[in-house]
Amino acid sequence: MPAALIEALWYVLPAYVANAAPVIFGGGRPLDGGRYWVDGRRLLGDHKTVRGLISGLSAGLITGVLQGRTLSGLLLSVGTMVGDSLGSFLKRRAGIEPGGQAPILDQEGFLLFALAFAAPIDPPEPLHALILVIVTPILHLASNAVASLLGLKGGL
Ligand code: CTP
Ligand code: MG
Repeated sequence: MPAALIEALWYVLPAYVANAAPVIFGGGRPLDGGRYWVDGRRLLGDHKTVRGLISGLSAGLITGVLQGRTLSGLLLSVGTMVGDSLGSFLKRRAGIEPGGQAPILDQEGFLLFALAFAAPIDPPEPLHALILVIVTPILHLASNAVASLLGLKGGL
């Protein structure tokens, strides 16, 4: 079991890195260019930035290259950023402000998209996918708590 956990974390590492990098390197111009959806709310909001997207994709890709699995790294990173942005889109539609909580969506959304994007060329073993669905929310909440303590991030 510990071996399977390590293998699962190794598999998903580019996605985790892509998800974390924007917290450090993000900011500046919003991805949605300040545009509003038909409901009068922002498309994505100010917390999804161009720099965050580019840093997430780059850091995730570099992680994949260093792991010797460039294409997987690319797909996991793209899936992560698509899932993360889609999550913000859905949160805005639900009237949740940027940085507000959306349980499950915030912790699992990016993961499920990362796995789905990587699946065609490098599908996760079912046990690894199961482990990741269980441990990702725990790691996500723990890393957000650390980021808050370090002053990198406002909420959980
Ligand atoms: N971030 C960014 N660009 C992105 C994704 C994230 O700049 N494409 C940065 C923002 O500073 C954001 C932080 O990373 O506040 C944490 O990301 P996340 O938790 O996904 O965003 P939230 O602040 O919760 O905003 P939202 O409600 O839109 O999900
Ligand atoms: Mg958040």
